[in-house]
Amino acid sequence: MEIKVAEHCGFCYGVKRAVALAQKAATDRVQGATLGPLIHNPQLIAELASEGIACKDSLEQFAPGETVIFRSHGEGPETYAQAEKQGLTILDATCPNVRLAQQKAAQAAADGYFPVIVGEKNHPEVKSILKWAGKNAICVECIKDISYVPRRERYGVIIQTTFELQKFNDILQALQEQRPGEYRVERTICLATAQRQQAAVKLAAESDAVIVIGGRNSGNTRRLYEICKARCEATHHIESDVEIDPSWLDGVERIGITAGASTPQEHIDAVRDRVRELAGGVA
Ligand code: F3S
Repeated sequence: MEIKVAEHCGFCYGVKRAVALAQKAATDRVQGATLGPLIHNPQLIAELASEGIACKDSLEQFAPGETVIFRSHGEGPETYAQAEKQGLTILDATCPNVRLAQQKAAQAAADGYFPVIVGEKNHPEVKSILKWAGKNAICVECIKDISYVPRRERYGVIIQTTFELQKFNDILQALQEQRPGEYRVERTICLATAQRQQAAVKLAAESDAVIVIGGRNSGNTRRLYEICKARCEATHHIESDVEIDPSWLDGVERIGITAGASTPQEHIDAVRDRVRELAGGVA
């Protein structure tokens, strides 16, 4: 059996940076915690907690003088203000690409454009971008949502960094048709996302079965799953190698493996080794 790992998959630059920052805080014995799970990866969150960097759900749970680590998805301006008011030290792991999207959103609003954030409403990154865009900003997740966009002369469009490009293009076209006006479009999808999605398209097209590794609550992993599933029916989403069902390999000649941006390389290697073992090769 041929086992192929996608050309681009696993930890992206922003996640690597956030994890390195939290691991350094643990090594330096910093008294602190992350605000919300650092990345969508339960195993890594547990590892960090065992090293002294736990995860807290709200700023109220931090004592004065402690360090709060902001995750790669970013926070709104009021969270920075609140942390400072509480006397906390901020370790900011906001991905620079997310920071750019936040700045573009704030700039669009300041320049008189009505901010439209194209992305998943419930995703923490989108929530943070919306906060920087101000109280008038609106999120559009699908074409149906366009009916909620008020009619204005000028729109500033910002995209969630991990949004699917094709889906964005469809939404933008419908938005411009239904809400004509002047558009400033900030193409803030990050390169890592685009590369992972393109590699997933290629992988799924060449495979009889695909395994997608990543947290079940990870939006970018889910999107990789959808991309692969649309092209290869036998696509399976797992969080770790123990979930592999040997029957998935029945009659399969070529199997592809890909992973979301918050999946560590060790998890990808473990899945590849397990598949090799089940296929009768050397683990
Ligand atoms: Fe940043 Fe892109 Fe990763 S926005 S966190 S580098 S997927």
